[in-house]
Amino acid sequence: MAEHPAYPVGLRLSGRRVVVLGGGQVAQRRLPALLAAGADITLISPEATPSVEAMADTGEIRWTRRPYEYGDLTDAWYALIATSDHTANEAASAEAETHRVWCVRSDDASAATAWTPATGRSEGVTVAILTTDRPDPRRTAAIRDAVVEGLRDGTLVAPHQRTKTPGVALVGGGPGDPDLITVRGRRLLAEADVVIADRLGPRDLLAELPPHVEVIDAAKIPYGRFMAQEAINNALIEHAKAGKSVVRLKGGDPFVFGRGMEEAQALAEAGIACTVVPGISSSISVPGAAGIPVTHRGVAHEFTVVSGHVAPDDERSLVNWQALAQGTGTLVVLMGVDKIGKIAETLIAGGRAPETPVALVQEGTTAAQRRVDATLATVAETVVAEEVRPPAVIVIGDVVGVGTGNQR
Ligand SMILES: C[S@@+](CC[C@H](N)C(=O)[O-])C[C@H]1O[C@@H](n2cnc3c(N)ncnc32)[C@H](O)[C@@H]1O
Repeated sequence: MAEHPAYPVGLRLSGRRVVVLGGGQVAQRRLPALLAAGADITLISPEATPSVEAMADTGEIRWTRRPYEYGDLTDAWYALIATSDHTANEAASAEAETHRVWCVRSDDASAATAWTPATGRSEGVTVAILTTDRPDPRRTAAIRDAVVEGLRDGTLVAPHQRTKTPGVALVGGGPGDPDLITVRGRRLLAEADVVIADRLGPRDLLAELPPHVEVIDAAKIPYGRFMAQEAINNALIEHAKAGKSVVRLKGGDPFVFGRGMEEAQALAEAGIACTVVPGISSSISVPGAAGIPVTHRGVAHEFTVVSGHVAPDDERSLVNWQALAQGTGTLVVLMGVDKIGKIAETLIAGGRAPETPVALVQEGTTAAQRRVDATLATVAETVVAEEVRPPAVIVIGDVVGVGTGNQR
């Protein structure tokens, strides 16, 4: 189509007049990027889609409600010609040529003086893809997606160009499936010099790290059991002070029974910058992966996430089991496999029906995921008979029975 390839350039449109002709789908798709660039946008069109109209209502763009007229492109730096009237587009194109306004055409790329690349952004980088001889939107979008995704998830790493995040990042790794870490978490992991990882969480991601990255298994840090947290804090501080980018990779979300704030406090005391990256907590995602919604209209309007690491009658327990027994909401118990017998007994004694459904989801979101169902009355013996082992999330309540059975 073109004799020569297009010359790629980044237009700095901030405060500069841009004219958009036509208020349909093309304008709707292109306007957000023009707004993000700070352009001073005038839309000329008798009609507009509701989204475009909303931009005019909020004052983001100026809207002149009429068809294109000669002279509309006066003083414009750039024009998007996208009306449904081919003749009007031709006339506007001719005016753009006369006034030397770069213009894109939605109906005829060969008549345009500019082509819009497929664009995407990731961490301060704009990726813009153009094909060489003729616009090929599917191809450019596919290449753009591959590049942006690679930058976001860290599989496309350009270490020398990256500005590393200083200090320590407390990253919630999600429940176990490596695809369930956040985009930000994955990127920070790809940039790390040192990773201190928990037993739970997306262990598979560690295998992808380049050989120079030091991976420390938090469970194996020497010191006695009760020193473990202090030893982890010290390791974080030491490596950060040595100028390394440190990722503390934790299972689920760092602040849900994850001791994340203790680590953040220790880092603050040592004067080390700390970035917190939330993660998908097992408390919601593991039931969901097993087909159990923690709330459901008409069934449960609340859910409570409880630690079951100490029994209800243990003096260290901070849980008001009596109140939970009297409620009707869903209970999600973490770290409760060992104590579930005592927990079920306390809930029944406090008023929950013995036939209340219970589901135990072991190693949720991993290849080893399994779900075992019981009731409050039977759960203690079921756990033993079925050899349910931690890690497991225990869901108590009628939501256990509302699933569709087609969950994958
Ligand atoms: C110390 S807590 C940490 C919770 C984590 N911060 C979160 O937000 O998911 C560990 C408990 O989380 C639950 N858990 C974490 N990952 C799990 C998984 N993949 N399957 C089942 N339970 C899980 C188990 O109850 C386990 O004993």
